[in-house]
Order: sequence, then C-alpha cells, then structure tokens
Amino acid sequence: MTRDTMENLKRTMTEKNARARVLAVTSGKGGVGKTNISVNLAICLAASGQRVALVDADMGLGNLDIIMNLQSRYNISHVISGQKQLDQITCIGPGDVEVICGASGLESLADLTRFQRQRLADELDTFQDNYDLMVIDTAAGLSASVVGFCHAADHTLVVTTPEPTAMTDAYAMIKVLAGRDYSGKISLIVNMADSVAEGKRIYRQIADVARRFLNIHVYEAAVLCRDDRLPAAVRQRKPVVLAYPKAPITSAITAMTARLSKGSAATTCREGFFRKVVNWFF
Ligand SMILES: Nc1ncnc2c1ncn2[C@@H]1O[C@H](COP(=O)(O)OP(=O)(O)O)[C@@H](O)[C@H]1O
Ligand SMILES: [Mg+2]
Repeated sequence: MTRDTMENLKRTMTEKNARARVLAVTSGKGGVGKTNISVNLAICLAASGQRVALVDADMGLGNLDIIMNLQSRYNISHVISGQKQLDQITCIGPGDVEVICGASGLESLADLTRFQRQRLADELDTFQDNYDLMVIDTAAGLSASVVGFCHAADHTLVVTTPEPTAMTDAYAMIKVLAGRDYSGKISLIVNMADSVAEGKRIYRQIADVARRFLNIHVYEAAVLCRDDRLPAAVRQRKPVVLAYPKAPITSAITAMTARLSKGSAATTCREGFFRKVVNWFF
C-alpha cells in the first residue's frame, strides 16, 4: 500500500467516525435576523474549508430559499412520505453550502410507525456524517419543535435585538433550555444594534440575569449592528457576505464565524442529531 493510499484510508476512517457539529440559530421573537444570520454564517463556515449543511427548520415562514435564491420543490416531508431520497432534497446554495428545506416537516413523523420513524432517523443521521457542521435555522418561539431542535444541537445561538420584547423573548428561550437541562452551549447574538457598545450592554444584561436566576453562562457570540446593506442584499436575493464583502456587517459576521469555529472539531460516536429530535417528539 502506498503512503498516499494509507493517508486516504486514514482520512476516510476518521471521517466515517466524525459527525457534524450542530449549531441551532433561534430566537423568542420573529423578525430578529435568524435566517440572514444562518445563511451568512453557513457561507463563512464553508469558506473556511468546512463541509456545511444548512437546514431550514422554519417551514411556516422559512425564507432561506429566497435569500439564497434557490428553488426547492422538495423537503423532508417528501422523504417521510417515500417520494424522494434524502440526497434528492438537498440543493447547493451560494458558497457551496448544501441546503435542506423544510425540516420542520419532521412533525409529520407522527403518522409513521415507531419502526419507520427510527429507520428514517438513522437515514437522516447518516446524512449528518457527511458534514463538519450543520446550521439549523429554526422558527421563532417556544414551540415543542423549536425547543426540540435546539435541545438536540451542540450549540444554540439565541438571537435578540435591543428591543425589550425581543430581549424578554430571548431570555424566555434561554430559560426553557436551562430548565430542560440542555447539555449544549448557549450563546447570544445581539443583532440590529445601533452601536457595538449598545449591543454589549444588551448582552451583559441578559447574561447577568441568566447567571443570577438560572445559574448558567450565556456566551457572547456577536454584536451585529444595523446595516442597510443587509436588506439591500436581501432585495438582490443575495447573502450580504457575498453581495457586500467589505461591509462592516460582513466583517462582524466573519469575526463571529471565527469565534464559533474555535473548538469545533467534530466529536465521535455521539447520538445523531435527527435521532435526538425524533426521540424528543415521541
Ligand atoms: N443587521 C441588520 N441590519 C439591518 N436589517 C437587518 C439586520 N438583520 C436583519 N435585518 C432585516 O430584518 C428582517 C428580518 O430578518 P430575518 O433574517 O428574516 O429574520 P428572522 O429569520 O428572525 O425572522 C429582514 O428584512 C432583514 O433585512
Ligand atoms: Mg426566518
């Protein structure tokens, strides 16, 4: 066996054992920037050489396909009904990010037998093996499915804005996760801040309350300031990091990606993400 073949084999074997780390992007309140953050974060992670899948788990109001200019006809519900194979429901988005649409269709698993559900969860989990990272764009609010997705993730990024309603709703999400003994890490993203100083103040307020009343540490993922180029990019149906590579918002998202990538080496032999989600429901 040549040295090259051995190196390849070693790599394949390590890859087989590795499972994507899962980052869930969530919020209490809608319209705070989850989808834009998920898309641009996924693109930056992929640009750093990692294999990234982006999962749209907000079927009701999911607009990931609009921002990424994708026409996705199929979603997980087509896999559940047996009409499509998993690899037929993914599309390649900008920046080589692979996108799965409509993961919130997982609730329709209720119609399947326990055996069929477990088989499907296994299939979805082999999908997870193909990536270094999966980013889940969840719906807003504290519904069982949103909490289920976050609970199964290794790291939950809670997005808030400086609006008091968004802050209370973000705290409510942190409280639910803490109350359910979430074993992952929770980080806060303050989006649409007027200044970095304002964003940091919001972060400290929420982190302090979480420490005092929930006894947990909420990490600071990023402060992203309000930037007109973000809605401008959405109007062009392009992710802002690609449409405006030199904009301050792009630098802030890139810096956040670097921070989140630290210590992100895939772990081995853990229970798969989708199996955890399925077990959460049933
Ligand atoms: N940093 C920002 N600066 C300016 N506008 C923003 C920013 N982040 C998000 N937006 C705008 O807020 C709206 C909601 O964003 P979206 O990502 O769809 O939120 P969510 O997924 O939480 O509902 C979009 O129209 C987007 O253009
Ligand atoms: Mg959204």
